[in-house]
Amino acid sequence: MNDKTIWITGGSTGIGRALALKFANNGWNVAVSARRENLLRELEKSNQNIFPYPLDVTNKENCSEVFQNIIAKFKNIDISFFSTGTWDPKKEKDIDVEQIENVMKVNFFGTLNCIKSVEEYYRTRGSGHISIVSSIAGYRGLPNSTGYGPSKSALNNLAESLYFDFKRYGVRVSLISPGFIKTPMTDKNDFKMPFLKTVDYAAEKIFEGLTKTNQFEIHFPKQLTLILKFLKILPNSWYLSLVGKLTKYQKR
Ligand SMILES: NC(=O)c1ccc[n+]([C@@H]2O[C@H](COP(=O)([O-])OP(=O)(O)OC[C@H]3O[C@@H](n4cnc5c(N)ncnc54)[C@H](OP(=O)(O)O)[C@@H]3O)[C@@H](O)[C@H]2O)c1
Repeated sequence: MNDKTIWITGGSTGIGRALALKFANNGWNVAVSARRENLLRELEKSNQNIFPYPLDVTNKENCSEVFQNIIAKFKNIDISFFSTGTWDPKKEKDIDVEQIENVMKVNFFGTLNCIKSVEEYYRTRGSGHISIVSSIAGYRGLPNSTGYGPSKSALNNLAESLYFDFKRYGVRVSLISPGFIKTPMTDKNDFKMPFLKTVDYAAEKIFEGLTKTNQFEIHFPKQLTLILKFLKILPNSWYLSLVGKLTKYQKR
């Protein structure tokens, strides 16, 4: 058994899966969660440091049960990395309330359920790290993003709020803001994704940010995120006009 343990949700595919392998290859115990148990089992077979804990983050009881099982096995969780997310570009163009509720349920409330399950543990422990995966789509409003952008925006605000609350207990809270990364999620996109990167690139940046820095926000690739950070501080009228032009946003 290794000294350090990380719990990764959203670990069956994409960024979470690549990060699970990165930590496992660096000698960490990795408790990995998602709904598709078969994919978690395959991951387990590929690396002796990976341990599957199937979970649906929309189920509060399931989150706390899985957390208890992980603690029972490893005694400690040094980093809790909450990466679950859903995005369906075809359904983001309209105000489909049911769809938006589902996106909020997975992206925002699902992450919140996981954070709630570790809250008491970290407060009592007085150390450790909770990391929340958001997106550059949460910086400001974007066209055709009626559910995903707002869910990530809510996570950004939540992460800042929790940063203060957990700092009092000596617990680090960090926010992950990836640009475009090639995963099953972005494979659905039918638009050009600037500075698209691989999951291994994302895993490398996240691993470094979590283990070698103490920064609040880990964002990448900088070529894209720095432009968006500039757009973020523009007055509304400039932002709306510029983004409208850049995205060639037209009336339907
Ligand atoms: N790829 C990008 O360009 C990009 C950019 C910015 C932010 N992000 C964020 O990065 C995170 C990972 O995304 P990704 O690109 O790696 O996408 P992905 O490959 O589709 O991964 C999403 C993960 O979430 C899990 N998941 C979905 N619903 C769940 C639920 N109800 N309960 C438990 N697990 C659930 C999926 O596993 P199961 O289906 O097996 O449950 C999967 O492991 C997401 O939060 C996403 O918003 C991605």
